[in-house]
Amino acid sequence: MWKHHAHFERRSLVLLIGILVVVAIGGLIEISPLFYLESTIEKVQGVRPYTPLELKGRDIYIREGCYTCHSQMVRPLRDEVERYGHYSLAAESMYDHPFQWGSKRTGPDLARVGGKYSDSWHKQHLDDPRSVVPESVMPPYAFLSQKELDYRDVVQALKAQQKVGVPYAEAALEHAVDDLQAQADPFDSRGTGLRKRYGAKIAQRDFDGDPDRLTEMDALIAYLQMLGTMVDFKTYRAEDPRNMR
Ligand code: HEC
Repeated sequence: MWKHHAHFERRSLVLLIGILVVVAIGGLIEISPLFYLESTIEKVQGVRPYTPLELKGRDIYIREGCYTCHSQMVRPLRDEVERYGHYSLAAESMYDHPFQWGSKRTGPDLARVGGKYSDSWHKQHLDDPRSVVPESVMPPYAFLSQKELDYRDVVQALKAQQKVGVPYAEAALEHAVDDLQAQADPFDSRGTGLRKRYGAKIAQRDFDGDPDRLTEMDALIAYLQMLGTMVDFKTYRAEDPRNMR
């Protein structure tokens, strides 16, 4: 065998072809299952498209570059699962365009931050991170509570998501503005329609503590409080055939 190896070592072209063949075998083993597996996304109950308010909050998250310091993917490793909760499922980001998995963690992963803190904690933390976590290096975003949310483009935003495969119904487009306004006001009767379209678990409240205004802070906190809460992990079983396709 070693005698034959000399053959490769002496001729760079033969070595190059040999390397290509070996790498191609590895690539084929990785890629070929994707051609016959029906789906690589497990079917999971509870995953739904974002509400218009959450979608606007997500736009702010992207605009402010929160993803440069925060990932949104809990990896299936023991230390991560113990710190953040159940590892992320592919289905949980199936309506996330573009996905926010991130590649840098200056701050903690946010994939399961929803429900971890109160709305007022988030408001305080975004206004001035060091007032709640003295050693924090996160920049303050106090201006978000001052800025009225501009949602003139919300129907277009939903349509754009629809184009890339998010199943928004026609009624969701038609009522996008109603749904957005209703979600930020606990007394708004249009919340019934919102829940009909997006599910009973939708949080309908004043997120930023200022009931008179609908601000960017409302949208961002609505988005953060939803993260990682769609799938009920008390009933989810990875090996349950109902969760597979
Ligand atoms: C320069 C990096 C940086 C940027 C940019 C940044 N953060 Fe942070 N973030 C951190 C750090 C570090 C922490 C941990 C300390 C703390 O809680 O403040 C943190 C913590 C958090 C937490 C608490 C997480 C937990 O589980 O305790 C939330 C929520 C959060 N950030 C949201 C945001 C949002 C939303 C944005 C964008 C508007 C943002 N961050 C932008 C660095 C950053």
